[in-house]
Amino acid sequence: MKVLYLLPFYSALIAARSTLQRQELDVQIPTIWIAGDSTAAPGGGGNGTEGWGQYLQYSFLPSVAHVQNNAFAGRSARTFTREGRFDNITAGLKEGDWVIIEFGHNDGGTPPVNATVGDTGREDCPGAGMFSPILEAPSYETDEYTGNQTCTTVFKRSDADYTSNVTEIVQTFPTYLKNATEIFLSKGAKVILSSMTPTNPWEFGNYSYTPTIFPYYTWLAASELGGPSAGVYFVSHGAYAAQAMKNLGKTVVDANYPLDHTHTAPYLADVVAASFVLGVKCGTSGLQGLVSNATSRLEGQVLGTCLGVNATLPI
Ligand SMILES: *[C@@H]1O[C@H](CO)[C@@H](O)[C@H](O)[C@H]1NC(C)=O
Ligand SMILES: *[C@@H]1O[C@H](CO)[C@@H](O)[C@H](O)[C@H]1NC(C)=O
Ligand SMILES: *[C@@H]1O[C@H](CO)[C@@H](O)[C@H](O)[C@H]1NC(C)=O
Ligand SMILES: *[C@@H]1O[C@H](CO)[C@@H](O)[C@H](O)[C@H]1NC(C)=O
Ligand SMILES: *[C@@H]1O[C@H](CO)[C@@H](O)[C@H](O)[C@H]1NC(C)=O
Ligand SMILES: *[C@@H]1O[C@H](CO)[C@@H](O)[C@H](O)[C@H]1NC(C)=O
Ligand SMILES: *[C@@H]1O[C@H](CO)[C@@H](O)[C@H](O)[C@H]1NC(C)=O
Ligand SMILES: *[C@@H]1O[C@H](CO)[C@@H](O)[C@H](O)[C@H]1NC(C)=O
Ligand SMILES: *[C@@H]1O[C@H](CO)[C@@H](O)[C@H](O)[C@H]1NC(C)=O
Repeated sequence: MKVLYLLPFYSALIAARSTLQRQELDVQIPTIWIAGDSTAAPGGGGNGTEGWGQYLQYSFLPSVAHVQNNAFAGRSARTFTREGRFDNITAGLKEGDWVIIEFGHNDGGTPPVNATVGDTGREDCPGAGMFSPILEAPSYETDEYTGNQTCTTVFKRSDADYTSNVTEIVQTFPTYLKNATEIFLSKGAKVILSSMTPTNPWEFGNYSYTPTIFPYYTWLAASELGGPSAGVYFVSHGAYAAQAMKNLGKTVVDANYPLDHTHTAPYLADVVAASFVLGVKCGTSGLQGLVSNATSRLEGQVLGTCLGVNATLPI
């Protein structure tokens, strides 16, 4: 399987720099990396909003774990791959680290097939995918649902740049997640595949949380990689965040989506971070052992309680 695009030259330079930065930190302390979009990123979606990843650090004592938020606004699993942002994490990764991967808000749509215009560069190939760089032989049925799909398109960096047309074989969402996860696992890290945050569940009057396909695909990728026994965990972050927003009520939640239905004000971003922590504490990953907060202190009127295993299945 060939991917006909070039990683930016500078990714090697960034990699060298971040390795140096890592070596300055205590090698005994695990780093918890976050790969994601604006809903997790520093500065959120701008205009005073904030990403939940900025608040995760407060649930870990500085002597126990360090949080490195590499989420970046506007990114999808595809863009994060193409721009070398997973590589940037790989460059700084050490054995015992954790990587949280959470995408979906920017992954929707379909790249126009063989078109030289119309590809935004971030929509994934639709479908469940199945490309695996380590498990080379496909071990899945090749029906329309589980077979690997790719889309060939021409990605143009900008209207002004007519020399940048690059033919790109676009992978599906689960394929990008699995590809990055397998690289992180090979470095001795463990990975949490986390489902995307909800859009404002009070947007249409009454509370309503209907996950998109991406939470399911996130669960599917974790499951196909072997799940907990392989060091890959699924956190139903979307469901936990939605539960907290249900408890907070329409007035508070509406007020904390000041820009649009996607980007949270700092208060709600903090709650969304806490809902991730509750999801971790209610799950099976070893990351829960690093959290400084007791489950009993997290559960309550805002965050709610642990969701049943079946209740967390996104679809
Ligand atoms: C790469 O990772 C380092 C941390 O290791 C971070 O400071 C830097 O901003 C990242 N660069 C990009 C382009 O993501
Ligand atoms: C966001 O901030 C920018 C710059 O201050 C402003 O131009 C824009 O109108 C704002 N957008 C919204 C939706 O408030
Ligand atoms: C896209 O281009 C490839 C290679 O030229 C060709 O095999 C394929 O049939 C094309 N697909 C469509 C939908 O035009
Ligand atoms: C699916 O992916 C595998 C592994 O990369 C590859 O060998 C196979 O040709 C792919 N199948 C299709 C139908 O693209
Ligand atoms: C790039 O694509 C545009 C159409 O968007 C086309 O007009 C232009 O000739 C292409 N440039 C190259 C170098 O292929
Ligand atoms: C897998 O990840 C590596 C490292 O980020 C990247 O270079 C490669 O293109 C990815 N493969 C696919 C099929 O996306
Ligand atoms: C919201 O729920 C209340 C009580 O269940 C109901 O009376 C009302 O019609 C609902 N409103 C909307 C917009 O669905
Ligand atoms: C965990 O505890 C710390 C300090 O006791 C606090 O700052 C943080 O907000 C707590 N995290 C959650 C998710 O409640
Ligand atoms: C999940 O649901 C299935 C089917 O209803 C049931 O057999 C199973 O025991 C449930 N698992 C848990 C952990 O509740």
